[in-house]
Formats: sequence, structure tokens, C-alpha cells
Amino acid sequence: MTDYTLVTGAARNIGRAIATRLKADGQNILMLDVLDPEDPSLGEFRRTDLSSSTDTAQAMAWAMGDDRRITRVVNCAGIVSTDKIEDVSSEDFDRVMAINVRSYVEVMRAVTPAMKTQGFGRVVNIASRAALGYSNLTSYAASKAAVVGLTRTWASELARHGITVNAIGPGPIETDMLRAAQSAESFEAYRKTVPVGRFGRPEDIANGVSFFLDDRSSFVTGQVLFICGGMTVGNAGVV
Ligand SMILES: NC(=O)c1ccc[n+]([C@@H]2O[C@H](COP(=O)([O-])OP(=O)(O)OC[C@H]3O[C@@H](n4cnc5c(N)ncnc54)[C@H](O)[C@@H]3O)[C@@H](O)[C@H]2O)c1
Repeated sequence: MTDYTLVTGAARNIGRAIATRLKADGQNILMLDVLDPEDPSLGEFRRTDLSSSTDTAQAMAWAMGDDRRITRVVNCAGIVSTDKIEDVSSEDFDRVMAINVRSYVEVMRAVTPAMKTQGFGRVVNIASRAALGYSNLTSYAASKAAVVGLTRTWASELARHGITVNAIGPGPIETDMLRAAQSAESFEAYRKTVPVGRFGRPEDIANGVSFFLDDRSSFVTGQVLFICGGMTVGNAGVV
């Protein structure tokens, strides 16, 4: 059996940076994404629409076949939907929840029995600063608050099995998703509100993931690390 780390949403931006860092850390990478990976050399890839439970189940059967032992998981796939509460569409809400929450549950459900047998597992779920509340992001904020809830729940449920489960709450990271959620001028105004004076880079998130997945992080579980350039401290947004 060979050990593998499964990364969802690994095709580009934050997920790609995570896969790149974990490969450099010496891990074998499996990637699931609806898009082809920008860097196929990072590991083995299966095209998967994580909004479909059927597709996700088939991908997990693939991931756990061929003598592979999944010891680490990073749930990173996500989409954003921006709407004022009075305009939220139920279809968008369901789609955001399917990808940002249900796929995380379905991936975890698939890997947990083997992790319990192994007596070892490391899991990181990508949440968001939006879990703390964020105007015009009803569906997304709800999905990311759910990610925090299930992280803490799995940490509690699985701690005795040697499985740690933590979350990272990124602040604004300069990716396609961030640009899609902002107009050009609000993008620059937003940048000025970040206490450290810049948007984050995907590698900033990968650095935190690497820490949580390390063998030596066995006493760290159920935590949410905000990698946010200071955006979650009390006076963030005051320039
Ligand atoms: N960029 C930010 O500022 C920011 C802030 C907080 C949290 N996040 C979170 O970080 C994660 C990565 O975001 P990003 O900024 O790199 O966004 P991104 O849009 O560049 O990447 C998201 C990845 O998820 C994949 N994905 C989307 N829908 C999918 C589906 N149905 N099936 C399979 N894969 C699918 C995409 O193809 C893409 O590779 C997301 O969970 C996002 O919510 C990002």
C-alpha cells in the first residue's frame, strides 16, 4: 500500500498551491476537480463534478482503489455566489451547499473507515473568513460556517482514532474567485483595507495546510486558523 493525500479543487489557485506544497513536502497527491489541472505533474487526477453525489462516490472509489491508502485529505473545492438576501435564489443556495459542504461530507464519509482502521488521518477543510458573517454572501457564508461546524464535529468524533481535523479560514486571496466577487474599483479599495497591506497568495494558505497535515501536529485538532492578513482582528477595515 502507498500513502496518498487527496486534494479536492486542486486544478488551480489555492488548491493547486496546496497540491504543489504537499508534493514538495514528499506526499503523493490525488486531485479531484471539474476542471483539468493547470499542473498535471502534481499527481494523479480524476475529473469529478463534486456537486454530484454519484460522481463524487465514483471518484472516491477510484481514489481508494489500486492499493492506495489515503492518509490525508484537503477539502478545498468551492464556489461563491453573491446576492443580497432578498435576491438569493434557492437553486444557487443548493448548488453552493452541494459543492462547499455536501462534497466535504461525502469525501470524509468515504475515507473515514480506512482512516479509523489505520489509526491515523489528517484532514483540513477550507472554510473562509465569511463564516464569521459577510454582507451579500448568504449562501457562501452559510456554507463556510457549516464547514467550521463539521470540522469541529469530526475533530471531536475522530480524535480517539488518531485522526485530526482542522479548518483554514482564508481572508482575501488573490484568485479567480476573489476577482469574480468584486468590481475592478472595489477590488483595489478592498486591497487597501487589508491590515498587512496586500491580498493573500495561494501559497499563504498552503503553508497552513502543510502545518496541519504534518505528522507532528497530532495534538492540534478542531481548530480554525484564519490566514487573513489581519482581516479578522477587531479593527480590520479601518484604514
Ligand atoms: N480566494 C479567496 O479569497 C478565498 C477566501 C476564502 C476562502 N476561499 C476558499 O478557498 C477555496 C479555493 O478557492 P479559490 O480562490 O482557489 O477559487 P477557485 O475558483 O480558483 O478554485 C476553486 C476550485 O474548485 C473547483 N470546483 C468548483 N466547483 C467544482 C465542482 N463542482 N466539482 C469539482 N471541483 C469544483 C474549481 O474548478 C477550482 O479548481 C474555496 O473553497 C474557497 O471558498 C477562497
